[in-house]
Amino acid sequence: MGLTMDEVLDRARPVLPVLVIEDANLAVDLARALAAGGIEVLEVTLRTPRALEALSAIRRELPELLVGAGTLIHAAQFAEARDAGAQFMVSPGCTEQLAAAADRIGLPYLPGVMTPSEVLFALEKGYRSLKLFPANGETSVKLLKSFKEPFSGIRFCPTGGIHADNLMNFLRLPNVACVGGTWVAPPSLVRARAWDQITQLAAEACLLSASLEA
Ligand code: 3PG
Repeated sequence: MGLTMDEVLDRARPVLPVLVIEDANLAVDLARALAAGGIEVLEVTLRTPRALEALSAIRRELPELLVGAGTLIHAAQFAEARDAGAQFMVSPGCTEQLAAAADRIGLPYLPGVMTPSEVLFALEKGYRSLKLFPANGETSVKLLKSFKEPFSGIRFCPTGGIHADNLMNFLRLPNVACVGGTWVAPPSLVRARAWDQITQLAAEACLLSASLEA
């Protein structure tokens, strides 16, 4: 039996880096820098022209990492991402067509939600691990606290607006499996090939979260 989305999020904890890769030639060095900081799971967003190429390169060179495709907003992207080697899929929201495409592909899928009705839609489709997008500081911390009782058993990966300063407020919540974000791999640091700084950002997030698990 294949991996479940729940297991992917467990392995990603504390952070699922959301990568916006402009230069596919830098993808492997970037992934290596994150792995050196303790990262095991990555999301390559399909927001840049060479994202699929970048994803394939990471899969080929660093087979020990779990690599997903993110920002899937068209049904056709699911097959393209699978063919490029993606091991899981992430969308900022969810529609009938996206859920059907995810079903056909059969890989772990993390659909995005923002409201109770969207959580219910995802539940009806059988998803129990959801992306909360966009996470919006303390408002979203409160929202997730309110989701705990009605949506027991549902786990969230809040993303969008998470950084080192508010990370712990989310990770402390029992219904948060991990958080996602670009802050550990800012495009400016990638462009500057500042690999040590990226390793440092990842390591800091892992260290912060380790204090919770202790
Ligand atoms: C995502 O696609 O998950 C978000 O755009 C990431 O948002 P961030 O840049 O605020 O981390």
